[in-house]
Amino acid sequence: MRERTLEVAETSLPDQQSHFGDAFPLVLECRTATDLPIVCAVLRETSRHLVERAARYGVILFRGFPVLSDQDFDAFVAAFGLPNFPYYESLSNAVRVNRTPRVFTANEAPPDVEIYLHHEMAQTPIYPSHLFFFCEQPATTGGATPVCRSDVLWERLAARCPQFARDLEAKGLRYSHIMPAADDAASGMGRSWPSTLRSTTRAEAEERLAGLGYSWEWQPDGALRATTPVLPAIRRLPNGRTSFFNQLIAASQGWKDGRNDPSRAITYGDGAQLDRAGALEAARLGDELAFDVPWQRGDVALVDNYVAMHGRRTFTGTRKVLASLIASVG
Ligand code: FE2
Repeated sequence: MRERTLEVAETSLPDQQSHFGDAFPLVLECRTATDLPIVCAVLRETSRHLVERAARYGVILFRGFPVLSDQDFDAFVAAFGLPNFPYYESLSNAVRVNRTPRVFTANEAPPDVEIYLHHEMAQTPIYPSHLFFFCEQPATTGGATPVCRSDVLWERLAARCPQFARDLEAKGLRYSHIMPAADDAASGMGRSWPSTLRSTTRAEAEERLAGLGYSWEWQPDGALRATTPVLPAIRRLPNGRTSFFNQLIAASQGWKDGRNDPSRAITYGDGAQLDRAGALEAARLGDELAFDVPWQRGDVALVDNYVAMHGRRTFTGTRKVLASLIASVG
């Protein structure tokens, strides 16, 4: 990208990875002092190209751009001209707070809760194609966003656990979790059922679940266990590769709070228990392949949700990483 007043260069980071000959993540650094309207004008012109690069590289980290506030981040994302995916319409199980109609806090879960690698909302039938993150304030320690090339993970998993990979591909997955009656910000998955399902009564909640193909079970304390229809465990990418597009690692490792037990969170599509060794190997490969985005104030990351997984490391201090989601494109 080069404009009269804007010079952007590819740069590198310590421990940056390379897959299929491409850097992971791709890092684009703004090398000139400039203002946001100029950046947004360039983004508008190059949006399509950047989205193509996100599909190829999985993650693009924009560093050194003049993005300082939630409003700036909103303008940066809006300049791409992509459809917004509003949090309130999603079936996300995270508690979040909106800052603007398209910008919200990434997850209100406490600092000592690790959020495991996942594809955003792949445990629901409705998911975004892309995510943007913005670092408004880095944590004092920790708080990186690990990202992982999911197509590379799938390739390695299929080589190491071929039967597990065949079972996942053939059977798909079902997820089950308990939603509280009121938001519980102490949990990484504490969004209430009235908020998640945009319902005020049980009858409305049941109607919405039935429409989405879920089954459900009311709990004595007013909470709701919801179980998804069979969802695919993988996704074919336009370039012919396959990604591990699911929430298997997060659900089997991390869906844990006062209501939820990870051992009940996920099964094959036919209801059978997952192969434990295979699930552990997927998590191990996720650890091996994770790259921790070392947030600096003002950083923006664009994640292709079909190609790369993301999570959140534990942290100390105040961490403000905001997010914005894009409804399916391409
Ligand atoms: Fe997420």
